[in-house]
Formats: sequence, C-alpha cells, structure tokens
Amino acid sequence: MQIAVIGSGYVGLVAGACFADLGHDVIVVDNDQKKLAALNRGEVPIHENFLPELLQRHRGNKLRFSDDLKAAVGASAAIFVAVGTPPTEQGEADLSYVESVARGIAGAINAYKIVVEKSTVPVYTSDWVRKIILRNGVAGEFDVASNPEFLREGTAVTDFLYPDRIVVGADTERCASVLREIYAPLSDGSYYKRPDAIPQPDRAQIPPPLIVTSAKSAELIKHASNAYLAMKISFINAVASICESVGANVQQVCQGIGTDTRIGPRFLNPGIGYGGSCFPKDLMAFRSVARECGYDFRLLEEVMRINEEQRARFIRKVRSALWTLRGKKLGVLGLAFKGGTDDVRESPAILLIQSLLQEGCEISAYDPAAHERAREVLGSSVRLAESAYDAARGADALLILTEWEEFAALDFERMRVELKYPIVIDGRNLYDPAVMAASGFTYYSVGRAASSPEGVDAAAVAPPARKSTAQ
Ligand code: UGA
Repeated sequence: MQIAVIGSGYVGLVAGACFADLGHDVIVVDNDQKKLAALNRGEVPIHENFLPELLQRHRGNKLRFSDDLKAAVGASAAIFVAVGTPPTEQGEADLSYVESVARGIAGAINAYKIVVEKSTVPVYTSDWVRKIILRNGVAGEFDVASNPEFLREGTAVTDFLYPDRIVVGADTERCASVLREIYAPLSDGSYYKRPDAIPQPDRAQIPPPLIVTSAKSAELIKHASNAYLAMKISFINAVASICESVGANVQQVCQGIGTDTRIGPRFLNPGIGYGGSCFPKDLMAFRSVARECGYDFRLLEEVMRINEEQRARFIRKVRSALWTLRGKKLGVLGLAFKGGTDDVRESPAILLIQSLLQEGCEISAYDPAAHERAREVLGSSVRLAESAYDAARGADALLILTEWEEFAALDFERMRVELKYPIVIDGRNLYDPAVMAASGFTYYSVGRAASSPEGVDAAAVAPPARKSTAQ
C-alpha cells in the first residue's frame, strides 16, 4: 500500500522504515530541508538498533523522503501523522503542528483516504482533526483513526515490528480494514517467516494481537499506558525509599511482588526517576486532559512528585557520602535518560548534574552515546571524558546515572585505582552491594543498604531529609 508518514522525528522515521520493511511504499514528509538532505544522503539522525539497516535496505526504493505534503497525500491511501506534540507552559499538549498538518492534508484528499494519528495526542484530537479537514475544503471521503505507537527509544525498531499489541482506533469498518491490511504482515505472522526479517527479541509474542477500538479509546489507551508505566516506576521508587529507612532490600521486594503474575516484574526497577521525551510530557498532558474532562487526577500529581523527590533523595545520598559538596570532584557515568539511546531530553542524569553543578561540584562525565546531545544542554560546564575510567580519574566519588549495559561490566579493580576515594553512588542499582564491598568500595544504591569493606553502614542507608535547593 502507498503510505505517507508526516514528520521524520523518532516515531515517524522508525514507523516509515518499518512500514517499508513490511512491504509498503512509504513517503516520509518533513519540512526541514537539512534533515531531508541528510536522510537522502543516507545519514541516520538517531541512535537506534537496526534503523541503519532498514534505511539502507529501503531508501530510494520503498522509502522516500520529501517536503511535498500535498503530493504525498494525493498519492497515498493512508496518511500517518507523526509530528511533535510538545508541552505548552501549562503542561498541555501543543497541537498546533497537528492542526497545521490537518489543514495541509485537506486540499490534497482526492479519493477515500484514512488520516491516522501516530503521535501521542489527547482524547478528542481525532474529532478536531476531522473538523479541521472538513473546514479546509476536502474534496474526497476520509476517516480519521488513532493508531498509537508504543515503541521505546533504544529498541524502537524491534518494538515496532514485534509489538505486544497493535491498537487500531477506527470509527468505521472501512477505516479499520485499511489499518488491518497495513499491519497484516505482523498480525498474520507472515513477516516473521521471512529470512530477512529483523531478528526476534526476547519475550516477543508472535503474531501480536490487533485490537480494534474506537478512535477515542485508542487515544486514551496511549496516555493511560504511559501514565500507568510511570506510576509503576514511582511506586517502586516510593517502596525503595521505605526499604532504605528500614534496612530492607528493594530487589528482594521486587522479586516478591513481581512474581505475582497480576503485577509482573517489568518496569519495577527503582532509580533516579523516569525521564525522556514521553513520560514527563505525557503525564502532564494526561492530567490536563482529565482536568478538562472534569476529573482531578491527583494520582498523576503524586506520580510526578515522587519522581522529582527521587532526584532530591539522590542528592542527599551524595551529600551523606561526601559531607560537603562545594569543590568536590565527581565522576559521572551516564548522561542519556536511559541506556541504549543518545537522547538527553528530560534526562534525570542531566537534571542531577545541573543540581550538583549548582552545589559547586566539578564534574567529569562519560556516556557511550550522548556526548554530543549533552554538550548542547550543558555547554562547557562539564568535562566530557574519553571513557568511564577517564571520568573516574582523581574523583572523590563515582556516580552511576544511566543504566548502560557496558557500565554493568566495568573493571572495578581499575576503577579503584583511578578514583581518589573508592566511593560509588549508584542511581541505577547496577552492582551487587556485597561484591562492591569485597572489591574495596563504599557503595550506595537505591532501596538497598549501603555497603563498605567494613560492612553494612546502617546509618548511611537512610539519608536524612534536609532542606535543599537541589531537585
Ligand atoms: C516510553 C514507553 O515505554 C513506550 O512504550 C512509549 O511508546 C514511549 O514512552 C512513547 O510514548 O513514545 P521511552 O520513553 O523510550 O518509552 O523509555 P522507557 O524505556 O519507557 O523509559 C522511560 C524512563 O523510565 C527512563 O528514564 C528509564 O530509565 C526509566 N525507568 C524505566 C525506570 O526508572 N525504571 C524502570 O523499571 C523502567
């Protein structure tokens, strides 16, 4: 099928490349000429496994890039809208890009087409998109659908091709059948039999179920999913704080609750709070949507409050390990908002670094992928190190802020030699406290007792709350 994807951001680019891999003819439309030129030259603007392969496989053939919205819409049976929906100052989703695309699409609809929301949008957006298209002189029949995307950064391509489920929010059978046809290679399993299929990740259930709902339900499914996942993280972070106070081990607690199949073990990793371009923005937007609908969703406020508090707790932990902060030299591992990506948007690592800089610390940081993007935010306030060991060199303590797999496999003998003091404050629980103590470190983590070569330091497990400007 001929498909247009409007917007070549994270979701648009990955969706376009994956639709092409499913056998469709895709035109990705963007008005950013520099980005289009780079894509046409074969550059890959984001750090994402398998994306370079897919672009290489389909570029110039099943996958084309263009700035001509009208031509792309005119030629396509389905138009996926994947433009940004950034937050306004009040925390609502700014839908002006969606509206302007809807206006642009209207005049080019010359026969039956479906317009599909792929970006995360508030409930009722599909109604608005329909109204805007009608107002702007549409010449053919159309339906508006919602087909939310659940991909995660870092595993975007495999998440798209091996989803837990495909949600098709369509208000007419005609529209639902177009979307069914687009996803047929996944839902009938034929894609997975192809020898050149992108390899199956662990835990994939194939073929994935395709769930047909109304457009409004699909819009809500996306916001509710992200809010629920963020709630799971804040919940376990709150439990971790209690573990620290009473000397329990959050890992054991997670194992105990996560084996209840009604709860499940995933997304129960405590840390320094969630970040990224989705959860923080979507929670605020969902809270605004609820408010507009007359419901005060205070649970979401609490999820956000716990998330902020988690960073403040971490700063208190650094303080309780080092006493005063002014002039302290810190080695930091991790800048990205999570492992496996170069994205630093709303990264708790960056927010913590900014707080520590304000407290007068000197920071040397290392991230396997995010230096360039971190530089744009942090400027020269932080030294970007050549390696994890270089970041640790001469530091008063080492802070672990992103859960990169390669950090889990560091040589701690070498690390001890590099550090001025063998102190590790781990915001991602990457190491075993007993092993760290046996290797000569004083080790602090989240929701577990601090450990040191002298034994468990019970006083250090519950850093006292104190008035701090650090968030
Ligand atoms: C999230 C959702 O997981 C996707 O399903 C969704 O499609 C996407 O948002 C979106 O709306 O576009 P993403 O932002 O890429 O995906 O990242 P996640 O893997 O969900 O992680 C979000 C944050 O939570 C990260 O900062 C991560 O470190 C943190 N996290 C995650 C935890 O602190 N603990 C966990 O157990 C899991």
